[in-house]
Amino acid sequence: MSFFGKSAEKAIRPVKRLQGRVRFPGDKSISHRYAMLAAIAEGKSEVHFYSDAADCQSTLGCLERLGVAIWRRGSTVTIEGAGQEGLKAPSMDLDAGNSGSTMRMLAGILAAQPFRSRLTGDASLSRRPMKRIAEPLACMGARIQMREGGLPPLEIEGAKLSPIRYQMPVASAQVKTAVLLAGLFAEGATEVTEPAPTRDHTEIALEQMGASIGRHGKTIRVEGRARLQGQKFYVPGDISSAAFFVAAGLMVLGSELTLEKVGLNPTRTALLDLVAGMGGRVKVMDAEMLNGELIGDVRVESSALRGGEIPREKVPALIDELPVLAVLGTQTDEGLTFHGAEELRVKESDRIAAVAENLRRMGAEVAEFPDGLRLAGRQKLRGAEIQTYADHRVAMAFAIAGLVAEGVTTLRDPDSVRISFPGFFGALERVAR
Ligand code: S3P
Repeated sequence: MSFFGKSAEKAIRPVKRLQGRVRFPGDKSISHRYAMLAAIAEGKSEVHFYSDAADCQSTLGCLERLGVAIWRRGSTVTIEGAGQEGLKAPSMDLDAGNSGSTMRMLAGILAAQPFRSRLTGDASLSRRPMKRIAEPLACMGARIQMREGGLPPLEIEGAKLSPIRYQMPVASAQVKTAVLLAGLFAEGATEVTEPAPTRDHTEIALEQMGASIGRHGKTIRVEGRARLQGQKFYVPGDISSAAFFVAAGLMVLGSELTLEKVGLNPTRTALLDLVAGMGGRVKVMDAEMLNGELIGDVRVESSALRGGEIPREKVPALIDELPVLAVLGTQTDEGLTFHGAEELRVKESDRIAAVAENLRRMGAEVAEFPDGLRLAGRQKLRGAEIQTYADHRVAMAFAIAGLVAEGVTTLRDPDSVRISFPGFFGALERVAR
């Protein structure tokens, strides 16, 4: 059904099998970082395969409002670096849209500017916690005001920052990045210690651009007043988008998929390791390094999976993949359980509640915990009406569930897929047989 060009719902029908090759948009996490770092670097950067996801476009829009010159040609984005002192006071709010990464990471840069700025977001982002970045940035000297409860919008009064040593209370790559970016502007070395390893794209990109970065165990150190150099970058395909096709390829009998040129940075491949450990046939091929990031093809064949319990310490590295892993869990032999994922409740939606509710609508047996889920195994799913809460990863996870359900699955608000993977439904249709 179409309503003013937006589809209010999308019907998903079971498929016989999935076969073929799939390409993904440039990695969302990496695209954000290259754009922000290029904006404060010296000289031009050329970013190839920049993500077409709405979130990454929000980042470019904010940077333009800060006076950064940006040219887009297809998926190539050219950014004229403004240098450490070249950003301009914005005459309007900086709209991060649905993107938590844009708001939290950009706040690290804005905290060091000699002007005020205001970061806003859509209804979902306006409900997401921001104290986690405001606190360390305030310790460095910035003044940040939020709505009650530590919610956006963020009003940031930048200042000359002092370096800090920060022990992060939550494992969050966005928080780590916000502090490291602020640290680039401070005099001296800033250190961040993470409770568990998180994606390290910021550290890699900073090294590539000439910053001085040290890593010792769980601590990352950046030297301040760094002069970053503009670069030519290639963004790998988004493994978190490929994850939906990994799950689909494993679940739908007789499937064989090749997921092309996806990012294989070890801080992002926990899903591949997990499913391989449960008996999944996933194979990495033709891996190579591109600007410090590993990239390659992933071949997936349908497989019987054992299931089991996901070790707690693995959860932060799987955080974006948990909705589709939960769907996959219902098709394993022993079922799947995970704990330690309270962060999932403060993503674009409460993903624990959304997944539990929708799997139950499909007739599945699910136990919901404050910090996780237990999915019984070998379940027959029934087509149902799915409430996606306009959350892209919930929409895509349940599109995959619909492939193995009996009857028709209807997704409400499917357009949210544009947040991370605008071509998702087209890509799925091309490999469905
Ligand atoms: C991201 C980090 C994760 C992840 C998000 C992207 C990033 O968030 O869920 O989709 O690019 O750094 P947290 O840092 O809040 O865990």
